Amino acid sequence: MLGGTVRQGDKGEFGLALLDLSGADSELLSGVADRQQVWMSHRDLVSAVPPGFRVLATTSTCETGAIEDPARHLYGVQFHPEVVHTTEGVRILQNFVFNICGCVKDWNAGERIALIEEEICRRADGRKVFFFVSGGVDSTVAFMLCLDALGSERVRGVYVDTGLMREGETEFVRDTFAGLGLVRIEECADEFLSILEQVRDPEVKRHLIGEQFVKIQQRIIEDRGLLSGRWILGQGTIYPDTIESGGTARAAVIKTHHNRVPGIQKLIDAGLIVEPLADFYKDEVRAIGRELGLAPQLLDRHPFPGPGLAIRCLCAETEQRVTRVADGFLVPVQSVGVQGDSRSYAPVLAIDAFPSQAAKLQDHATDLVNRHAGVNRVMARVATREALERQHVFPSTLTHGRLDLLREADAIVRQMCRESGFDKQVWQFPVVLIPVGAGESRDSVVLRPIQSVDGMTADSVAMPDELLHAMSERLMAIPEIAGVYYDLTHKPPGTIEWE
Ligand code: XMP
Repeated sequence: MLGGTVRQGDKGEFGLALLDLSGADSELLSGVADRQQVWMSHRDLVSAVPPGFRVLATTSTCETGAIEDPARHLYGVQFHPEVVHTTEGVRILQNFVFNICGCVKDWNAGERIALIEEEICRRADGRKVFFFVSGGVDSTVAFMLCLDALGSERVRGVYVDTGLMREGETEFVRDTFAGLGLVRIEECADEFLSILEQVRDPEVKRHLIGEQFVKIQQRIIEDRGLLSGRWILGQGTIYPDTIESGGTARAAVIKTHHNRVPGIQKLIDAGLIVEPLADFYKDEVRAIGRELGLAPQLLDRHPFPGPGLAIRCLCAETEQRVTRVADGFLVPVQSVGVQGDSRSYAPVLAIDAFPSQAAKLQDHATDLVNRHAGVNRVMARVATREALERQHVFPSTLTHGRLDLLREADAIVRQMCRESGFDKQVWQFPVVLIPVGAGESRDSVVLRPIQSVDGMTADSVAMPDELLHAMSERLMAIPEIAGVYYDLTHKPPGTIEWE
């Protein structure tokens, strides 16, 4: 619009990059080191800046890392200043907000609970709040905020057992909420599995699960007379859920969130909803939980997605061979990645290297994804019954059997992580079942331990060799498991979940 030129770069730049300042005197980058780490997520780049602009910083791949036209008060950065991996990001945003825009900090984090609770009371407007709790941090903290704001007479909940949860989850919820006497457990596993059994497309899965949730919610709401006008629905939606579902004005749809499917959207539009955490990131939600006095074993739980194991159990339409390519083996399952602003489904590149030096391999993985436009994820082979070139992708759906297999593998991984203390080193650890194998064993397990602050970006985390060997041995002792792989991909370019 201002007369510059944007073109597709010869190479993507996803992940870590080093930004070098041009030395120009700039208010935007004032106080920032001459060379610093930034987080990039782009393939397009500005090849000619508009008249009046000057370049403030570059990386080895991008000539226009930061630009400005101070006379017109216009500033731009190619990297993401808002993510933790950009080490000086907060300073850059502060320079912009306070020094350039002249905003004043007049808000105090210590007052936020009072403000949230005020908003809950305003929204509830004398009505009661009904929650569908999941046992996760977000819905628990949202529930407790409402309980604190409205009192135990005005807050109730149901936990819907979808059959898509991990082993022991229903018992955990029973232990957490049963003492309060405010939450009931609704067994719905068969209803969910019957609608999902033949579905392979991940976005269709999310929609069906979301819609089924809404149907069950509707039924419970009607059965309990909650539509009398005296109740509204509470949800633990947090800010990344809203951004990644395209809920903010400019974000493209990165994922379809079950809190934003049409049925729920109708309730939102009708104002029959309260989402006390919708403006907060996960780390802030945990801090709020701590301030409310919730137990650490509850707050420190790793996040677990609403659609549960359904989006960790990949399905395939047809049988296809794994093929050898220049840099490894192309595994034709469709896994999701986020490169630039949109979500893409692409095959996975498997490399035949035990991830004992995962840190080195992770850099290699970043480079591979940047070079191969058609791939958004790289995994290392930990163990397989047959060589990689003999592996196939098998036609598969979401069955009781495969979900049970995934639950068993996930329980093994979780137990070993807890016992070894490795769970403290990761933010989340998806265990994913992919329909890849050879002969009679037709499924493999992918280990995806990641570190993150808010789920928006993430690093693949290396695991101690000894633990990985022991874990893979226990997983390979299950006859249906054909192999164990290790996901080496950071986010971006790969999402945390595989679907
Ligand atoms: P991705 O895979 O998008 O995940 O990098 C970021 C965070 O969001 C969680 N996630 C979901 N949570 N419903 C949820 O409630 C979903 O459909 C969903 N998909 C991803 C994921 O587990 C991670 O913490």
